[in-house]
Amino acid sequence: MQSVHGRSGVVYLLAALLTAPPMRSGEPVRARHGMVVAQEPLAADVGVEILKQGGNAIDAAIAVGFALAVTHPVAGNIGGGGFMLVRLANGRTAFLDFRECAPRRASRDMYLDSEGNPTKDSIFGWRSSGVPGSVAGFETAYQKFGSKPWANLVNPAILLARDGFPVSKSFSDSLHSAQEMLSADPESKRIFLRGGNLYREGEIFRQPELAGTLQRIAENGAKGFYAGETASRLAGAMAANGGLIAAEDLAAYKTIDRQPLTGTYRGYGIVTAPPPSAGGVGVLQILGMLTGTHYDSDGPDSVKAVHYEAEAMRRFYADRSEYLGDPDFYVVPVKPLLDPAYVAHRRKTIDPDRATPSGLVEPGLPKTLNAGVDWKESKQTTHYNVVDAKGNAVAVTYTLNNSYGNGITVPGLGFLLNDEMDDFSAKPGAPNMFGLLGSDANAIEPGKRPLSSMTPTIITRNGKFFMAVGAPGGSRITTGVTEVILDVLDFHMNPQAAVDLPRFHHQWRPDILYLQNGFSEQTAAALKAMGYEVEATGGVARVEAIVMNNGTLEGGTESRLSGKAAGY
Ligand code: DON
Repeated sequence: MQSVHGRSGVVYLLAALLTAPPMRSGEPVRARHGMVVAQEPLAADVGVEILKQGGNAIDAAIAVGFALAVTHPVAGNIGGGGFMLVRLANGRTAFLDFRECAPRRASRDMYLDSEGNPTKDSIFGWRSSGVPGSVAGFETAYQKFGSKPWANLVNPAILLARDGFPVSKSFSDSLHSAQEMLSADPESKRIFLRGGNLYREGEIFRQPELAGTLQRIAENGAKGFYAGETASRLAGAMAANGGLIAAEDLAAYKTIDRQPLTGTYRGYGIVTAPPPSAGGVGVLQILGMLTGTHYDSDGPDSVKAVHYEAEAMRRFYADRSEYLGDPDFYVVPVKPLLDPAYVAHRRKTIDPDRATPSGLVEPGLPKTLNAGVDWKESKQTTHYNVVDAKGNAVAVTYTLNNSYGNGITVPGLGFLLNDEMDDFSAKPGAPNMFGLLGSDANAIEPGKRPLSSMTPTIITRNGKFFMAVGAPGGSRITTGVTEVILDVLDFHMNPQAAVDLPRFHHQWRPDILYLQNGFSEQTAAALKAMGYEVEATGGVARVEAIVMNNGTLEGGTESRLSGKAAGY
């Protein structure tokens, strides 16, 4: 993830967080009733406590979301946005899109300089933020599915913020890694870096301003964020610092309740993320391209498996660059992209013995498609899972985009702002922070939501919950989630062993096959001999998964970080 991407100056922050060597326990945590897997243990415990009190999976997911905003500020947030995928035990599903949107004053070329080149303003500074969605998303989830009093779901986070919690080693390390960026903002420096006297492991970290902000949410719901003191301070700070988010943007923000994408794979039902996530199209296309190839005959992470999976990934990412964006602003051709005939056609272009250079792989839909409907021109990260005793399942991925977002804390409010505007395509052909390319489909427009890689996914077997999975990791999310799905479904691994397996990634451009440290030299050499340009990487998606195995829930959590699978 280091040198290859454009505007890569800040990606080192991600890489630093992702490079800790894996500890491979291989054994999942097992529980009979309910389970939470999350990337910070205190927040996972909050979720289990809500389940034990009789709250359902959605109650617990809301409480974990607020808790992570306190204990895991690198990504947990109320200043960002994300997606919540819900599947109830009765089969009902919902996909709540609380992705940030571009403020009304945003415009297509807002991140280009006078010569038309992309600037870093989509990553740094007050103009990099989209309108935050997390609080609205949690409130919508509550209104649709919640069962416990709302304040009970926010209170654990308030206590963690007000009374503080002991700083873990991984939190202390991540603050050190982000020191340069957080120092640039006086409020972030004061709160997160204690004015430069950095928190060490075991010291208590209190956030009284954030406790106050959460208190207003506990008392007034989303109105306690999008109106009143929080909104006026946020809009005021934006206006004072050249940011674009105004009070009207906050007042107008709405969660969008979307139909999840669904598909099947080897008898399993797949419920996954629709646009403005590219993730679900990615999962379903890649699984579809692998079907019937016997890619799995030599085992997981074998040369054959990596080759076929990487070629499927490459073809999906070519399509992603051209066709995917916010469906409310652009007619996204989801159906054609998932049409079995089209997927079979893409599959046939995979050479069993050789890598296909990306220069020979283009976005693949026929130009004549939808004749008469000019869809192309038409207008238009942390992850956690919860499963409760009834079999209701929730998968949430939400994010500030970069680690600690844009590093700016709104004075008096105690929370960090996102830099999600970088997920738009600032200019066709110019890579974003994750090296991703985009087209008109993902150009900036007021109110539009930027294309995401976040891929919360729930899998069923015989109509019952089987697996919940998702990850952070920028462009590597979709591939990491797909690999873990394949490791569980095709290679019959438990979720911990699957999460621990070294991962790989291909995203069409750059034409590089990234292999996580842990692949053997022989495997790398064999792939090179097939025509791949191979690069070792420490940066991979940090996947979290829960699997139902004969009535027992098994939780796998990212052992490269210090997350927790907590059950009862
Ligand atoms: O929505 C997206 O695809 C990105 N904003 C996700 C960023 C991310 O995963 C960063 N974390 N490692």
